[in-house]
Amino acid sequence: MTELSFIHRYEPATDRSRPPLLLLHGTGGDENDLLGLGRMISPGSALLSPRGKILENGIPRFFRRLAEGVFDEEDVRFRANELADFFTEARKAYGLAAPIAVGFSNGANIAAAMLMLRPEALAGAALLRAMVPLSQAPDVDLAGKRVLMISGAMDPIIPAENAKRLAASLSTSGAEVQHEILPAGHNLSQTDLQLLVQWFGR
Ligand code: MLT
Repeated sequence: MTELSFIHRYEPATDRSRPPLLLLHGTGGDENDLLGLGRMISPGSALLSPRGKILENGIPRFFRRLAEGVFDEEDVRFRANELADFFTEARKAYGLAAPIAVGFSNGANIAAAMLMLRPEALAGAALLRAMVPLSQAPDVDLAGKRVLMISGAMDPIIPAENAKRLAASLSTSGAEVQHEILPAGHNLSQTDLQLLVQWFGR
């Protein structure tokens, strides 16, 4: 694997008409977690999947938190910029167009922060079980970015009001947001998969 600033997995495109995917795992996951999902939702896309650099009791994440759902926002900013820089390196190394981020939970939260802080790094994002990553949303222009958010109405980690606030904030910044709220918890369901396939097919 090419030496870049994050441990990662990379699979080249077999269908160059498909956008590259930046796959961002949840707390305790790693660079292998979402490769199968990526292949299913956008067959033929190049897949780039980094491992989060923060270790919380030995398990990887993309930024520090003070408690569940309470984020170290200085670290969120630092790590979102670091990840966007990694993607700039990776784009050069692998010859990639701007990707669609596909993030689950902690990976969705860092993807939302990247959209707000480094919008040029992403063409859009699919945010699975995301919450507001920064208490003050930066003033950013997200016109032309497509965002799919899928939340769980019974998610014990993410209050429904918080997910709605994130969708509203991305939409106010100009993103084309589709927010789906499923009768689900924090884990992904078959319906998430169907919605992702439909959204990528559009
Ligand atoms: C986070 O820490 O990003 C969220 O609380 C979700 C999680 O990863 O547990």
